[in-house]
Amino acid sequence: MKRTAVYPGSFDPFTNGHLNIINRAMKVFDKIIVSVAHNVSKKTIFTIEERVDLIKKIFKDNPQIEVDSFHGLLVEYAKLKKTNILLRGMRSVSDFEYEMQMAIANKTLNPDLETVFMVTDSNYTYISSSLIKEIVTLGGSARHLVPEVVEKKLVQKLQKKQGDSSTHETRKQGS
Ligand code: COA
Repeated sequence: MKRTAVYPGSFDPFTNGHLNIINRAMKVFDKIIVSVAHNVSKKTIFTIEERVDLIKKIFKDNPQIEVDSFHGLLVEYAKLKKTNILLRGMRSVSDFEYEMQMAIANKTLNPDLETVFMVTDSNYTYISSSLIKEIVTLGGSARHLVPEVVEKKLVQKLQKKQGDSSTHETRKQGS
């Protein structure tokens, strides 16, 4: 029997920490569906399409990985994808409470669903998407934290955003 897991997340942006989880999970599962969530409570820098596109580029030569996005409940999406396995990474104790709450809530919605946790390698436990965005916004390098395609796009996007806001500031001062 083929084992498929859904790896859901906001991935804004996708980091080397996420990559680490997927690379290790590929030894456990036959197929991993990396799925970008439409998360209404998070203000994101990349659109869903941009995030999907970036992740597709990272795994373009890998038939074990499918890249997708979803709206609504994760349990419904997993059903649609004909799997009852969710994959999540756990970085530290502080992730535990949130992850446990989600896993239990999902199990309440679908008792057949299992959440499998992988502990993030120690090199990546401090990484988060927000931290990376902050580093790049303030002119730092995220080269060691994200795949190359992500870094390029992130720099383009955040520099454009900064350029736009400084033009706006100059206009405001001039008016
Ligand atoms: N390495 C580095 N960073 C990691 C990581 C890893 N291995 N694993 C998680 N993170 C970071 C992310 O970068 C992100 O950082 P940020 O908060 O600075 O953006 C943070 O951990 C959490 O992000 P993520 O794993 O993407 O989870 P999320 O909380 O954004 O989304 C969903 C979780 C999408 C799975 C959840 O909201 C969901 O299921 N939504 C669908 C609606 C639903 O069914 N709701 C009921 C759920 S019970």
